Amino acid sequence: MTRMPLVAGNWKMNFDHLEATYFVQKLAWLLRDAKFDYSRCELALMPTFTSLRSIQVLVEADNLKIRYGAQTVSVTSQGAFTGDVSADMLAQLGCTYVIVGHSERRKYHPEDDANIVDQVRAVLAAGMQPILCVGESYEERRQGIELEFAVGQVKDVTRDLSEEEAAKLIVAYEPVWAVGTGMVATPDVAQDAASAIRAHIRSAFSDRTAEDLRILYGGSVSSKNAQELIGQPDVDGFLIGGAALDVEELARIARLTLKATTRG
Ligand code: PGA
Repeated sequence: MTRMPLVAGNWKMNFDHLEATYFVQKLAWLLRDAKFDYSRCELALMPTFTSLRSIQVLVEADNLKIRYGAQTVSVTSQGAFTGDVSADMLAQLGCTYVIVGHSERRKYHPEDDANIVDQVRAVLAAGMQPILCVGESYEERRQGIELEFAVGQVKDVTRDLSEEEAAKLIVAYEPVWAVGTGMVATPDVAQDAASAIRAHIRSAFSDRTAEDLRILYGGSVSSKNAQELIGQPDVDGFLIGGAALDVEELARIARLTLKATTRG
């Protein structure tokens, strides 16, 4: 595989800045002891806004290779938007990635496709990479329209992007029924969705952009299922919720991903 695998931890609303700092230190120690090769597998953490500055200070002081980012972003750049955080503010904190359109944001906040397109644009304009979350609920799967649905979400968001913008996108296929439920998608289900998403990017943009696009799987990933999932040709890494709150488990998943993707 030529695409660099990415293991990203989505902490959601967990850990204050002290807990976050301790976690990052411990993760760095565990992976140093395991001689983890960050040049062959990227590792990123998405804490709450309140932990970003502490993580930035630690990463810079200790010259850590761990990347980090945010879980959402404002679509505006500044002004009277109480509670919002702009993309430029995140870029100033050294964020590499921003999760956009996570199913929990779509559910609990008024984030529709138009808002998600604007978030993607804001993230790109600030020089970061959006991790766009898509995926069907149980109902769409029951109706057998899961692939149309997930690909449709990608289509809606990428429709007006230039090829250059699309090339910076990362897509996370996260079936809603698998998020936080312990019901992980089978490797075939993850592969079918990832392959359908890649095929859409190929037809909408180019072979090159499709081949370079990183597609993550998310939804109840753990060290028990990571190896099989990453073995799929179109799955390039993970977006991990619950298992990313356990530092040893996250380090295990990162090592399994690295091992599986550098074999041979
Ligand atoms: P989970 O969450 O790993 O706890 O299922 C994944 C996510 O929400 O990104």
